[in-house]
Amino acid sequence: MKYAAPRGTRDILPADSPLWQLVENVCRHYFTLYNYREIRTPLFESTELFTRSIGDSTDIVKKEMYTFPDRKGRSLTLRPEATAAVVRAGLENNLITADSLTKLYYLGPMFRYERPQAGRQRQFHQAGAEVFGSSDPLLDAEVIKLCVDLFKALGLKELEVSLNSVGCRNCQPAYRTAVQQYFRQHAKALCADCQARLLTNPLRILDCKEGSCQSFIEKAPAALDHLDQECRAHFDKLVGWLDAWQVKYRVNSRLVRGLDYYTKTAFEVVSRQLGAQNALCGGGRYDNLVEELGGKPTPAIGFAIGLERLIEVMNKLNLERPAEGPELFIATIGDAARQVGVQLLAEARSKGVSADLDYLGKSLKAQLKAADRIKAAHVYIIGDEELKKKTGLLKNMATAEQKEVPFDQLLAQSDHSCGCGDDCRCE
Ligand code: HAM
Repeated sequence: MKYAAPRGTRDILPADSPLWQLVENVCRHYFTLYNYREIRTPLFESTELFTRSIGDSTDIVKKEMYTFPDRKGRSLTLRPEATAAVVRAGLENNLITADSLTKLYYLGPMFRYERPQAGRQRQFHQAGAEVFGSSDPLLDAEVIKLCVDLFKALGLKELEVSLNSVGCRNCQPAYRTAVQQYFRQHAKALCADCQARLLTNPLRILDCKEGSCQSFIEKAPAALDHLDQECRAHFDKLVGWLDAWQVKYRVNSRLVRGLDYYTKTAFEVVSRQLGAQNALCGGGRYDNLVEELGGKPTPAIGFAIGLERLIEVMNKLNLERPAEGPELFIATIGDAARQVGVQLLAEARSKGVSADLDYLGKSLKAQLKAADRIKAAHVYIIGDEELKKKTGLLKNMATAEQKEVPFDQLLAQSDHSCGCGDDCRCE
């Protein structure tokens, strides 16, 4: 019997890990730069937390949740997203208070039972940020700029920020009615799902990906035309800040997000380098959610980046990949040379230089082959001759250049602790 990874999941293999680590490090760096602190919540939560926050009539709640009873019959769900869980954890641990600002970030796997395709998996990873306590549109602009800065730092180009306001409790009902009335006229031409949405949650039709619905969606009433004064002013101030920071955006007044908790600002960052699933990140304001989950009324905004999609774009751009193997592989011939090699190995590691040697009793040729396979940057060769001279042969695996380096010099040079020269990757 051979086992395979469950459909819609993927192993992140050692060859891919350096890029994942780079992306995760850049995310952490930018979140910290903007003064966010990390929060880690459980991978599963009570089902009700998600049904209440994401919305009963969303695809996520209706079709995509991994829900199961535990041994005591309590209904649990693998988190399909993290915002609701962060609100729950923030309230439970008194991190969210109405009169102070709380900035939190997270990285981790999410689970949605979706039809797997390029850019869409059943287990995927998000890096996200949530801010609680301010309704200042400057914060909306800051959150969007954070995404853009982070993507630029990773070398991404051809990105587009798609921006909308979905209004608040005050203006949403009128917009909902306008959308419902409009789609009623075209009900027969809509897909079966949208015909049902027309009754349960007409705004969800705007998010439909079916080709047959697209031409109607394009001409649907625009959310921005139905904003009340406060939401309009909020949106105008937000675009003012984005303009001041020279963050480019495109207003898309039919952008609705796949979750029901949004109010006012909704945005996505899309990449032209991706296919149909082209949203690298999505987010927006959710000024009612904290109250709906039992807290005091607290404005909030956040976003989440899909890491698989981000990495897919980076792979397509052929950006320089981070080093995969160790800096140093010590290849020895005979027992006496191995003794020296083992000493140098310990010294290398104690000085922060990643290093390894052979544990399989291989010939020198096979050791060099192994070093190449694990993508070591340098090999240090010690045989009988080298033992006599107390000087090994340092080979640069990329250029095949070789030079003699005394044992006590290999890791001793003050400017290059590893002694591997100008192309050193140790620091
Ligand atoms: P979302 O738009 O559902 O928002 O997901 C955010 C991002 O996660 C998407 O733009 C996409 O890159 C990625 N993503 C979503 N589903 C999948 C999937 N099945 N496979 C691969 N990647 C996927 C949220 O989750 C909100 N919690 C974001 C948020 C935070 N809003 C406010 N705060």
